[in-house]
Amino acid sequence: MDDSGAPIILGCDHAAYDLKENIKAFIKQKGVEIHDVGAYSAESVDYPDFGYLVAGAVSTGEYSRGILLCGTGLGMSMVANKFRHVRAALCNDLFSAIMSRRHNNANVLVLGGRVIGDVLAREIVSAWMETPFEGGRHQRRLAKFENMGCLAAASAANNP
Ligand code: RB5
Repeated sequence: MDDSGAPIILGCDHAAYDLKENIKAFIKQKGVEIHDVGAYSAESVDYPDFGYLVAGAVSTGEYSRGILLCGTGLGMSMVANKFRHVRAALCNDLFSAIMSRRHNNANVLVLGGRVIGDVLAREIVSAWMETPFEGGRHQRRLAKFENMGCLAAASAANNP
């Protein structure tokens, strides 16, 4: 299914607040609906709280695509990939962003706000939004780890 123009759910922590705002404006310019779940300032917060909101919504199918940002992108990736049906890809370079779609059908893009600049981030977001999944042997490989063990979206009891 081509979901390249589908609404996107977006979240970040304080370390990537500025880049998140930049990316949000960029996606809006493209005419794609975006739902920003915060953080809404650069005041210190805990990235798992926002990773939970975005990955949970992708896990349940409420959104087919999500974007998460933290300082490196590492913490958000770790959180997001605990959720069933979520394939989160940390892409701080363009090649990874393209391949995350072609081969991994990544439905959550993760960026490091302390790693990359605005211009590269916009290129990465465009590529990730527009590159289709190739399917075929890659679908077979995704199926092999689909049920390898993860949290159900509703079962993260430590997240109020
Ligand atoms: C926050 O200081 C930082 O640890 C966080 O943004 C992220 O990089 C964690 O992986």
